[in-house]
Amino acid sequence: ESSANLIKLDPSRVLGAVDDKVYSGFLEHMGRCIYGGIVDFDSTVPGLTNEKGYRLDVADALKELNMPVVRYPGGNFVSSYHWLDGVGPKDQRPRRPELAWLGEEPNHFGTDEFMEWCEYMNTEPYLCLNMGTGTLDEALAWVEYCNSDKNTYYANLRRKNGHEKPYNVKYWSLGNEVWGPWQVGQMPAADYGKKAFQWAKALKLLDPNIKLVACGCTGFEEWDYIVTQALISQVDLYSIHLYTSSDDHYKNVTGTAGAERGIQICSKLLDLAKIQQKAYNADVKICFDEWNVWDGERAPGYLGAEEQYTLSDALAVASWCNVFIRQASLIGMANIAQLVNVIAPIMTSKTDLFLQTIYHPFLLFCKYMRGESLNLHVESPTYKGDTGCSFTESSVGGELLWVKGVEPAIPMLDVSATKKDGIITIAVVNRSLEDDLTTKIVLEGDYKETVTVYTVHHDDIAATNTFENKEVVKVEESTCKLGDLESYTFRKHSFVMLRISS
Ligand code: AHR
Repeated sequence: ESSANLIKLDPSRVLGAVDDKVYSGFLEHMGRCIYGGIVDFDSTVPGLTNEKGYRLDVADALKELNMPVVRYPGGNFVSSYHWLDGVGPKDQRPRRPELAWLGEEPNHFGTDEFMEWCEYMNTEPYLCLNMGTGTLDEALAWVEYCNSDKNTYYANLRRKNGHEKPYNVKYWSLGNEVWGPWQVGQMPAADYGKKAFQWAKALKLLDPNIKLVACGCTGFEEWDYIVTQALISQVDLYSIHLYTSSDDHYKNVTGTAGAERGIQICSKLLDLAKIQQKAYNADVKICFDEWNVWDGERAPGYLGAEEQYTLSDALAVASWCNVFIRQASLIGMANIAQLVNVIAPIMTSKTDLFLQTIYHPFLLFCKYMRGESLNLHVESPTYKGDTGCSFTESSVGGELLWVKGVEPAIPMLDVSATKKDGIITIAVVNRSLEDDLTTKIVLEGDYKETVTVYTVHHDDIAATNTFENKEVVKVEESTCKLGDLESYTFRKHSFVMLRISS
């Protein structure tokens, strides 16, 4: 046991506002995410679905997360998706091959169904445009269908399909992972930059109120340098993606340090583009619209995507969320990928669901880590072994990067803090497999005697939830006294959230 650990915070030292949109989600037509996940049109189980086919148990579990925005319909899927296939009478919609996951798309769930589901869920839609097989005309038609109140063809098609009022979809992204070798329509960064520039101009002519999201890579690649330069004057958000994972616990929970550094570098690339392109009015925040723990090799089920999460993964997800809080001033949106069955916090069967281990810390963040992010001083042992940061392989030149091969120092106590409505919330992952870390928590100000404590922990780092044993890893709620923070013990491999009221 170690006792020289310290978490010190002064609530007047605000790093920035936490955008609620960091708790957004992502749904893709992939495996059992849409069909069998958020909807089941064939279910005969009484009460499981409503008249629209929504899985009500899934909707309830997602409603707890109170997600402001949900991105749809892909992902890789979107790069060969024609949105017109998914509107109008269901029996006339074509069944198509889809090229991302080499499946078949029945098109029973499309734009109108997604918009209605979003309304039911009280969340805002975010649509990703097809820059693979899709054309600019098709993209314009989709924006017109969703957002126009004029007497024009696609706006009238929406009316004909039963939706008089425009949906006013605000967020639209210019393609998905266009850099990826797996992507239909993969192209070099400079080609993407030119094409997306033209699309952006046309889309904003049609609807100046939309917010456009550029397709970035990880935030620290050559692609990101070229594309930030090309699109800084045209877009409102810059998207990056990263999945972390390892069977080795320490690599699993330290991979998030790569995401954090990636965010910082990406933000510097955006600043550089502003200056070099003289786009002084640009205000482009990062949109981390795919993030999670995902090991495609490990996961059973459809395409290796039905990941079954462990306690170690739950701690990694808590560290992911800590990154978003610490970097709050740079992040405009983040979308956990995905929401149901596919790389997801919720797993369903035809009759039931269980909440994966990762659901629990994520729920605590969604509920409590809002408001303003606070500056922190943390002292704890650092991890000395190999990390899970993919970052050191990055290829953008110059002093913006870590030196290749140099591993960052990663603290065993991973911490972030917020304040909202007079409540200070401190989120702490103890990454250590060996040591409970007794820590002095120093907090300026006067507070109530009783502190609420939420803990996610299990003796077995590989503990997992299943349909048979749904609550092996869950949130435990307790209290402690304010005075206990003088010397508070964070158990090894645990996640703790402390809520301190003034
Ligand atoms: O979320 C699964 C896939 O991961 C997405 O389709 C793609 O964008 C990423 O490579």
